[in-house]
Amino acid sequence: MSLPTRFPKNFKLATATAAYQIEGAKELDGRGISTWDAIRSEYGRIRDDSNPTLSCEGRLKYKEDVALLAKIGVTSYRFSISWSRILPNGTLSEINKEAIQYYRDVCLLLRDNGIEPIVTLFHFDMPLAIYDNGTSWLNKENCEHFVKFADLCFREFGDLVKTWITFNEINMQAWSSVVKIQGELWLCPDRPEIENHEQAPYIAATNMLLTHAKIYRNYEKNYKETQDGIIGITNGGRFCFPASDSPDDQAARNRALDWLFNYTIEPILTDSGDFPATMREKLPFLPKFTDEEKEMIKGSTDFLGINYYLSHMVRDISDDETPTSQSERDASYAFVEGKWEKICGETWVRYAPDGLLALLKYVKEKYNNIPVFITENGCMNLIGEEEKKEEDILNDKHRIKYITGHLEAVAKAIDNGCNVIGYTLWTLMDNFEWDDGFAVKFGICRVDFESPEKTRTMKQSAKYYQTFIREFKKHHNLL
Ligand code: NOJ
Repeated sequence: MSLPTRFPKNFKLATATAAYQIEGAKELDGRGISTWDAIRSEYGRIRDDSNPTLSCEGRLKYKEDVALLAKIGVTSYRFSISWSRILPNGTLSEINKEAIQYYRDVCLLLRDNGIEPIVTLFHFDMPLAIYDNGTSWLNKENCEHFVKFADLCFREFGDLVKTWITFNEINMQAWSSVVKIQGELWLCPDRPEIENHEQAPYIAATNMLLTHAKIYRNYEKNYKETQDGIIGITNGGRFCFPASDSPDDQAARNRALDWLFNYTIEPILTDSGDFPATMREKLPFLPKFTDEEKEMIKGSTDFLGINYYLSHMVRDISDDETPTSQSERDASYAFVEGKWEKICGETWVRYAPDGLLALLKYVKEKYNNIPVFITENGCMNLIGEEEKKEEDILNDKHRIKYITGHLEAVAKAIDNGCNVIGYTLWTLMDNFEWDDGFAVKFGICRVDFESPEKTRTMKQSAKYYQTFIREFKKHHNLL
């Protein structure tokens, strides 16, 4: 049986982008400034020092991009709606009709091409106006603004969008994008005046979980019957393996999994309605959910989105060690370099399809076989590649290997009874990779950033995916 024919007929084969990473057109539609506009204007903050206006111009080129998606043949396209484009102040005080029309046009065009939209409501960028009011997810008022934004999206797009994702990588978001945390990625404007940095990720996670649940319950009560869609949440998925068989390393690996993966989904997907017990034991300040809140959070998802790029090897730490990051310190574990291939060179990505399979089996057991949508998986160009000739860059064999390995892992997981409903390749085209700017490129299509048209060209990996999907569709009579 060839690999594409191992996936069931209703399986989704998607690709994805996020608003801030591709849209550009900062001034159009009365769009407001977002946190990422502010970050990019901080001198020296973005790795490649790229001009803050450089982008793929996805807002203007959406017709071409939908045509590209149709050419590749994806069943579904995951993208995010920019909160700042729709609500420039972050609140309902001003609603941009042009922006609403723009996202409706995208959805209509997708529909005309038989591509299902999967919409993320929050993918790392927040309207700056409300961020400054009190620092993103630490501020409960901002949570309320987001609930209202989500409600507006259901009202305006719910006839066309049937699959929603509230937060992208809620677990990462809490650690990286709220305040600056020791040893962690830093994906937010600096606000040294914010106190209690050490508690911030946990408070943010609590607030985001409650916000997610409110959005889910609102949809369930007011839209589900008429719109008939589903709502999920995406977690960054990193499986952890113990560095040895010793009980201490095994326990450390369980704690690492709790801190890196479980803490933002265990409250939703288990009967406890609460954070993992290990976290409760170690963190006396961890906010408590009321019984009513637990009831609201429990079961508040129709599927679990997982973004998967790598796994970790972890060990226990001794009392006299000083861990390099706060999460390692709080959970008492340390990372050990695993044996996985550095398939893109010296970057953080690892070729670890075995970790994906193990993670999917783990989710099946621990979370009652909840439907899982792989909402991202992919890898960057090889380091130093920009020096190469264009035809060599387009010939991205390492990416094809990476994709094939992970699709094989998903097929194996399905054979093992895991309820995986879809796979999403990150990302449709080279785009703005947050702190790394344009120095790191994950696209299956190359973007010529020098050209005025920002020309897109399919890399070999896009052609591979196209052939893969064609075979899948042919096998199921979907062509
Ligand atoms: C996950 C994030 O959701 C996405 O925005 C990012 O580009 C990829 N990881 C690659 O780092």
